[in-house]
Amino acid sequence: MNAALIQLLSKTAHSREELIRLLSAEPGNETDIILQKGLEVKAAHPGRKVYLRGLIELSNRCAKNCYYCGIRGGNRKVERYTLSDREVLNAAGFAWHEGFGSLVIQTGERKSKAFSLHIERMLKAIHQATNNELTITLSCGEQSAETYRRWREAGAHRYLLRIETTNRELFYQIHPRNRNHDFDIRLQSLDLLRQEGYQVGTGVMIGLPGQTLADLADDLLFFKSQDIDMVGMGPYIEHVDTPMYPLRTKLWPAAERFQRGLLMIALLRLQMPWINIAASTALETLDPLGRQKGILAGANVVMPNLTPVVDRKKYQLYDNKPNLDKDASLSTVTLNKVISAIGETINLHQAGDSLHFLNRTRK
Ligand code: 5AD
Ligand code: SF4
Repeated sequence: MNAALIQLLSKTAHSREELIRLLSAEPGNETDIILQKGLEVKAAHPGRKVYLRGLIELSNRCAKNCYYCGIRGGNRKVERYTLSDREVLNAAGFAWHEGFGSLVIQTGERKSKAFSLHIERMLKAIHQATNNELTITLSCGEQSAETYRRWREAGAHRYLLRIETTNRELFYQIHPRNRNHDFDIRLQSLDLLRQEGYQVGTGVMIGLPGQTLADLADDLLFFKSQDIDMVGMGPYIEHVDTPMYPLRTKLWPAAERFQRGLLMIALLRLQMPWINIAASTALETLDPLGRQKGILAGANVVMPNLTPVVDRKKYQLYDNKPNLDKDASLSTVTLNKVISAIGETINLHQAGDSLHFLNRTRK
């Protein structure tokens, strides 16, 4: 039985049917073999090295209403905030001094001119304050080509925009069906980002109500067909103040969502050995060792949260988000201990560009 599995894993690309077979691995031995293969392929390509991105959740104001998300515009219970310039620059300075090499700036989605200018201004201010030594990833939703261009010119290098699910029907079950939540616009935005020269990242949630293993197989094939440079994906986790909360009884058990999250990382590493894959915070929410387990399945990026502690609890996309009050866990000394304990090295003072991106743009 395992011989057939090992044979299947020796392939460098898998069909939809093969991916479904692999995603339905039994917990225990079968799953362990697949996760081990993810680590093996990572070791042979980007290597057993981890890049750090300091995560700054710059604002939780959001004009959208995604049914799964705790900070959706319609949730009146959330206290809204936008970090001051000083707070952002302090967080960026911390990352710089600690040798993180890179930042992720994440916000809810807003399309106003003022918002666009604010992000542009902060990009310039961060580069100025950190001697142009940090690379910056933005995660600020769907924007116009012009906005993406201005942000790129102001010094953003990478962009994360999750497709959430590639099953169009499911997409419309987890979002309101209106112009503000349009599957095709999401796809077009990914194209725009690529045209503007970004390293493009996307991702999905794993274990959404109604989602099947075939959907997850399609998600993996989508990343490949889009020739994506980076992926951040993690288990779906319910949030009490969202329209999807009542569906929690229909979900795969948390342990299963977690295992499938790891399997997705390992299987993606097999299909796309050179891309950057993040060990998501959602994995850590379901298992205190989730981050390490993600790395050992093939992930090579972690994003320690640098948002000021007072605002962190206001950026709860889902219930029980971890590290709400942990500043100490940020220091590179602590991170180094955790990462080296699992046989990996942290790459300090390095941009950590997606090698897949460097390969495709060198051609
Ligand atoms: N569970 C897991 N991930 C979530 N996100 C938003 N809400 C949830 C949730 N309830 C993810 C989405 C989004 C990213 C910023 O956070 O994938 O793109
Ligand atoms: Fe807004 Fe993003 Fe949450 Fe959707 S997932 S409601 S766009 S913050």
